[in-house]
Amino acid sequence: MPNLLNGLQLNRIYQRDCIEGMKLMPDNSIDLVIADPPYNLGNNGTKLNMKEIYGFNQFKEDWDKIDDFHSFNKAWIDECHRVLKPDGSILAYGTHHNLFTVGYLIEQAGFLTRIKYEWKKKNPPPNFTGNAPHFASESIIWASKGKRRTYNLDYAKRINNNKNIQSVFETTLTPRNEKKHGKFPCQKPLEISIKLISLHSYPEQTVLVPFCGSGSECVAAQMTGRNFITFEKEPKYIELANIRLENTNELKDKLIHLI
Ligand SMILES: C[S@@+](CC[C@H](N)C(=O)[O-])C[C@H]1O[C@@H](n2cnc3c(N)ncnc32)[C@H](O)[C@@H]1O
Repeated sequence: MPNLLNGLQLNRIYQRDCIEGMKLMPDNSIDLVIADPPYNLGNNGTKLNMKEIYGFNQFKEDWDKIDDFHSFNKAWIDECHRVLKPDGSILAYGTHHNLFTVGYLIEQAGFLTRIKYEWKKKNPPPNFTGNAPHFASESIIWASKGKRRTYNLDYAKRINNNKNIQSVFETTLTPRNEKKHGKFPCQKPLEISIKLISLHSYPEQTVLVPFCGSGSECVAAQMTGRNFITFEKEPKYIELANIRLENTNELKDKLIHLI
């Protein structure tokens, strides 16, 4: 497996806007995209009042404030479609804040929507005001570029008593032992990243992670023997993700039953 993709090195984090970064990548070169994009929660007032909905104003990140959210989503989704191989897939995270726009643009780009996974949180953050249910899930759209796509039924059976899995992953919020190298506001659990990557790609293949953050999907790719290519704008998150990538052994032992 070459460790270069059009001059970009695999298995390292590029400090770069992902839309610009993806433009350096050749057409049809990636096996799987796993994208955990901004949900635009920081765009105060236009889409969401955190206090009103959740009862507290906890999540407010500059990177999560995008003025033209539609154009931003279209740009990254179109690039993902271009760089994926004809039998490649995209997995895209979302909540009601971004999911409908992202799902629409995924289909507009030419993808075929296959299923929507749910991540059901066993211990969701509470809604103290009681004016809406506790917000307890996130979704992951699975869509393929063409009719052929990867679904690893053998893996699904291996992690589920020899039966195919359901489309719902139920876990706690990201456990503390995965956060010991630093705090990140929306770090996804490794359990889910490992399952998604293992279900929709094979070892030695290349996974594109457009929005690296603290690197959960890259760590999962490394643990499961895939190559990754990733972009992140914030140096402090790149530092955190690199530390996580250098310290996977202890966690890998705990998650070995999923690998
Ligand atoms: C939702 S977080 C990803 C979290 C990741 N799944 C994890 O578990 O660590 C999104 C990340 O994308 C980064 N980001 C936002 N816009 C970006 C862009 N245009 N290009 C590259 N990175 C971007 C943010 O700085 C943030 O760290």
